Amino acid sequence: MQKVLIAPSILSADFSKLGQEIKDVEEAGADWIHVDVMDGHFVPNITIGPVVVKSIRPVTRLPLDVHLMIDNPERYVESFAKAGSDIITFHAEVEERPTEIIKLIRYFKKKVGVSIKPKTDIRMIEPLLKMVDMVLVMTVEPGFGGQEFMSDCTAKIEALRKIFKKDIQVDGGINEMNAPEAIEKGANILVAGTAVFGQKDYAQAIKKIKNV
Ligand code: DX5
Ligand code: ZN
Repeated sequence: MQKVLIAPSILSADFSKLGQEIKDVEEAGADWIHVDVMDGHFVPNITIGPVVVKSIRPVTRLPLDVHLMIDNPERYVESFAKAGSDIITFHAEVEERPTEIIKLIRYFKKKVGVSIKPKTDIRMIEPLLKMVDMVLVMTVEPGFGGQEFMSDCTAKIEALRKIFKKDIQVDGGINEMNAPEAIEKGANILVAGTAVFGQKDYAQAIKKIKNV
């Protein structure tokens, strides 16, 4: 079994003290920092852009795991790469050609992730599996933190694990109760927003989700 990593999503952090929040979760045992980028088109919410990635880059040594919930990701890969992202994940549902997006992310020497929304079948990304480092399986409709975990999506994790040996990330509504199910099905990177930043004691929260 792969080691389980936890990637707190800063979407649920207090943005008035974002740098400190990131230092606090690093100290508390976070493995990656998950950055949710939303454009108000691909999803009905707007969050942050490359300028924020750039300003948090010097604050932490942890990998910045950038989840692009945006249309035309190809247009923005360069700025997110140059801002200091380590992993860039795009959505399979966008209209651009995935192979072109992957090539561009590789050109900037970043790790590549591809994500699928709850209603998207894993068949859609099968041809891409050889080309990516990670698949992100969404367990909520992308757009907002604090939604309820859709447990029926974990069947996709299980099916994917049979054919994909690299990183499988699960994102949306993860907490200490459902994390074991996601891990058992084959996820090895857990994104958690509310279940970390919504708690008083981040270290305790991370420990509980990791179940250690
Ligand atoms: C949803 C985002 C998630 C979300 C996670 O669109 O991609 O990363 O912020 O937050 P929780 O853990 O609160 O569902
Ligand atoms: Zn996310």
